[in-house]
Amino acid sequence: MVKIIAKNISKYFKKRNGYVIALDDVSLTVESGARFGILGPSGAGKTTFMRIIAGLEVPTKGELYFDDKLVASNNKIIVPPEDRKIGMVFQTWALYPNLTAFDNIAFPLTNMKLSKEEIRKRVEEIAKILDIGHVLDHYPRELSGGQQQRVALARALVKNPSLLLLDEPFSNLDARMRDSARALVKDVQEKLGVTLIIVSHDPADIFSIADNVGVLVKGKLVQVGRPEDVYNNPVTIEVANLIGEINELEGKVTKEGVIVGNLKFPLDKSYKSERVIVGIRPEDVKFTKDLINDENWILVGKGVVKVIGYQGGMFRITVTPLEGSEDEEIVTYMDHPLKRKEEVLIYVKKGSVKIFET
Ligand SMILES: Nc1ncnc2c1ncn2[C@@H]1O[C@H](COP(=O)(O)OP(=O)(O)OP(=O)(O)O)[C@@H](O)[C@H]1O
Ligand SMILES: [Mg+2]
Repeated sequence: MVKIIAKNISKYFKKRNGYVIALDDVSLTVESGARFGILGPSGAGKTTFMRIIAGLEVPTKGELYFDDKLVASNNKIIVPPEDRKIGMVFQTWALYPNLTAFDNIAFPLTNMKLSKEEIRKRVEEIAKILDIGHVLDHYPRELSGGQQQRVALARALVKNPSLLLLDEPFSNLDARMRDSARALVKDVQEKLGVTLIIVSHDPADIFSIADNVGVLVKGKLVQVGRPEDVYNNPVTIEVANLIGEINELEGKVTKEGVIVGNLKFPLDKSYKSERVIVGIRPEDVKFTKDLINDENWILVGKGVVKVIGYQGGMFRITVTPLEGSEDEEIVTYMDHPLKRKEEVLIYVKKGSVKIFET
């Protein structure tokens, strides 16, 4: 399998009056056989980065290596896409409707001057791994949604690539299919050992598949780490938001803590800025009627219930500070509802409060 090294890669696209910086000095190593995720909002440069790795786009600046081989450098393609041993699934799993599953999977082998037997052997091998050997003579319309995904993945894998690139591969699937597709991708990667890079704006894709994640914001790689480390220690509130739901409160730093209306959040160190953003994950918040006698939970003050929703079998409760800063909101999920306008005590989990300087 292949190790991917990006060194100071930038990509500029010409526009009528100037240019767009799609990637800005991105350096990254993806180890051989690793599962790497790239998370970022729309327009962050995710697809551009994937296309540069695939050789479909050339980096304006910087170098790209596959192992120790230079494949692209400063506006020059050195190894063309067809010689990079890459399988790709880009945004849609679309199959050719007028070709059987077999012919869909065999399609990338067409120009390889292989014998019919060799093609059959390769298609059947990958079909067996993906458990679709019995439906190879079916047309896409005769396949279940899950089987269609498997055929599309088989097509990306039939040339035995060293690198599999998936760009938002699940965005067109419904929620139920998405889970099985994530599991399928992870299983197949484990079986084949292929280096995998998956791009998504959905943190659930990253958590279910990737061992490491890079966060791309406005063309810059702002954080790289294990998904749970990025979740727990995001470098900015924007990253915190990209990788999961987080409460954002505007607060004022004092000696006693960060003040948001009548609420006071503990401070673990000193900050230069006077105004900061307090970030707290919903699971690190509790609203209660009575005092909690547990040193892992810290009382920050009183709030009042503003909205009660229902989502995923849980009540989604929004609380605002009782006095001052009434526009600020804190959300958590509870297994029982609270009453609107009810007063509650707000607790936060010790060590969970994230402070971002603005
Ligand atoms: N061929 C192109 N010509 C000009 N500008 C481009 C081109 N391709 C991408 N861009 C611009 O580069 C930036 C990054 O685009 P890119 O498609 O890589 O983002 P993305 O992170 O994949 O977004 P999305 O999540 O919406 O797919 C955007 O501002 C986009 O408009
Ligand atoms: Mg994209």
